[in-house]
Amino acid sequence: MKKITVIGAGNVGATAAQRIAEKRLAEKVVLVDILDGIPQGKALDMWESAPVEMFDTAVIGSNHYEETEGSEIVVITAGLARKPGMTRDDLLLANAKIVKSVTEQVAPQCPDSIIIVVSNPLDVMTYVAMKASGFDRNRVIGMAGVLDTARFRLFLAQELDVSVRDIQAMVLGGHGDSMVPLVRYSTVSGIPISELISAKRIDELVDRAKNGGIEIVNYLKTGSAFYAPSASAVEMVEAIARNGKRILPCSVFLQGEYKLNDVFVGVPVKLGSNGIEEIIELNLTDQETFALKKSADDVAAQIAKLHL
Ligand code: NAI
Ligand code: 2OP
Repeated sequence: MKKITVIGAGNVGATAAQRIAEKRLAEKVVLVDILDGIPQGKALDMWESAPVEMFDTAVIGSNHYEETEGSEIVVITAGLARKPGMTRDDLLLANAKIVKSVTEQVAPQCPDSIIIVVSNPLDVMTYVAMKASGFDRNRVIGMAGVLDTARFRLFLAQELDVSVRDIQAMVLGGHGDSMVPLVRYSTVSGIPISELISAKRIDELVDRAKNGGIEIVNYLKTGSAFYAPSASAVEMVEAIARNGKRILPCSVFLQGEYKLNDVFVGVPVKLGSNGIEEIIELNLTDQETFALKKSADDVAAQIAKLHL
């Protein structure tokens, strides 16, 4: 790829840009933020690691969107963290304004790009980006399921004392506490986890994964997770940049799939150079269908508050 843009040079954005450069996924990475000097300073600092890390990717920081022109992938991480006294709805409205504004600026510069949204609340912000860009749904994708499954996979590997490489898992639904883990589809080298771990213990690990974001916030106190989130976003970038045809849980605009309509929610998709190349519909149990519907209803209720 020639150019990948990351908007928001905070913890997730800067770390994502670094991972993209170190994985050599593009000739140039552009890091954009509204803060004067921050994207420029972080980008130059990152680029100065090139001779040590041996990558040829140029890393450019900017406060302007001209630099992003022609990017093939745009990762949106711009947003505010919740501050004391701010309700969830205050944050929803503030971040919707930011995501709308950055998308309206970047989309005309990069009309053929694929947008990956990271900003929270994730599923709603991905909807905002799709509306603001006017792009087709295969080109506006939310990152959540890769992170939620990564957390679950780590906890399973720790529980069983096996390599994370042998653990596969799948989650559906909204990000975080409304995620719907598909325990039936979670395996260790093909062995269902239910054959290796008790149902009670699986429930505890699922709960820990659902609350994985809060667990990190409770430690950091002044910020939220960014190493695993940036790695997860870059796994999606890599699938697109290298036409990987990866099957990953991503937030996608559903139009009839899973009997859900006009809402973003996490489901397994095939990710390749065209963005979402296929939405995979699983045969769910009644209980799983109910949980997915509830999660989608929560996202739809938040979307309705934006009056878009
Ligand atoms: P951060 O506060 O470190 O960085 C956010 C950056 O966005 C700041 O540098 C800020 O200046 C910038 N920004 C704000 N308004 C902007 C605008 N109009 N244009 C350009 N840049 C703007 O936050 P962090 O930790 O990087 O998180 C970013 C977002 O990602 C948050 O909304 C967070 O909740 C979300 N997140 C989502 C995850 C997921 O699984 N989907 C996981 C982790 C974080
Ligand atoms: C997380 O799950 C904050 O959404 C973010 O860590």
